[in-house]
Amino acid sequence: MVKRIKVVVTGANGFVAKNLRKYLSKNNVDLISISRSDFKEYDNELKIISKNYDEKIILNKIKNSDALIHLVGLGKQSVNIDYEMINVEFTKHIVNLAKKAKIKKIIYNSGLGVSSKTSVGYFISKYKAEKIIMNSGLNYTIFRPSYIVGKDDLFTKFLKKQIKLKIIEIPGSGNYSIQPISINDVVKVFLQSLDQIKFKNKIIDLVGPDYLTFEQYVKLFSKDTKTKIKKINLENAYYDAITNSKSNFGVDDLNILIGDFKGNYNKLQKITQIKFESVIELLKSGGLL
Ligand SMILES: NC(=O)c1ccc[n+]([C@@H]2O[C@H](COP(=O)([O-])OP(=O)(O)OC[C@H]3O[C@@H](n4cnc5c(N)ncnc54)[C@H](OP(=O)(O)O)[C@@H]3O)[C@@H](O)[C@H]2O)c1
Repeated sequence: MVKRIKVVVTGANGFVAKNLRKYLSKNNVDLISISRSDFKEYDNELKIISKNYDEKIILNKIKNSDALIHLVGLGKQSVNIDYEMINVEFTKHIVNLAKKAKIKKIIYNSGLGVSSKTSVGYFISKYKAEKIIMNSGLNYTIFRPSYIVGKDDLFTKFLKKQIKLKIIEIPGSGNYSIQPISINDVVKVFLQSLDQIKFKNKIIDLVGPDYLTFEQYVKLFSKDTKTKIKKINLENAYYDAITNSKSNFGVDDLNILIGDFKGNYNKLQKITQIKFESVIELLKSGGLL
């Protein structure tokens, strides 16, 4: 009989986690999923609800799992909660739990644009999280995703809302580029990375085959919908981001967009041998609407 893999997923209610749990469950992976709030579990899934990922509640349940996928992350900070608390200190807590539970492998989503030279607060916190994982002694795979697209990601939901209002605002020229990857491909890559040796102790960009400008992306997304695209002055977009906590784009959303980061798609393709979806084709077919 083939041994089933047992995997712990943190941040179970997030966009990536929801899609991943569904896919892993279908592919006969046993799941132990942890979240701060309640969620509907799959047949082969053990649910743990814990606000602070309390060791007393969690440790016994996750002991000797094969891998842990850490999907807790913060992309916008406030006075109550900041990157250091969630992206750095919380990662430290999860790594300690994984070590105590004798889990051998950890998989983490960092971000495309993370490097030792970055001056962006969000990337600095992800860089520190990468270092914590790399120095943990655990077998690791760190992914650096560009924008992960699906029907239910935050940006797709935001664009759909703007289409209803018949106007989409884009910051600045819109000439900066993104390299989106479909969530359907991301979940396949994660499944492979659970036990394949070629992922061991690697940092891999999680990017799709298409590199397109933000304006092109938005135009394709909203084609056939009679939505007006309005460019807003970048200074105004930053002003709104700095002074209004509910702004459409946060300061670091803008930093990441303007950063124009490009990842190594060929490396990802070579390691996984997956035929990746073209997000341009997906947009043309209206597959995200
Ligand atoms: N989506 C992308 O395009 C993208 C791109 C680059 C990197 N990433 C990274 O990939 C990971 C998953 O992204 P995602 O898009 O799925 O994000 P998401 O939907 O925001 O999910 C992140 C999850 O983190 C958990 N979380 C947030 N604040 C927390 C807190 N204070 N304490 C404990 N848990 C907290 C929540 O899980 P519960 O609600 O279950 O508690 C939340 O659902 C993140 O690390 C993100 O930075 C994503």
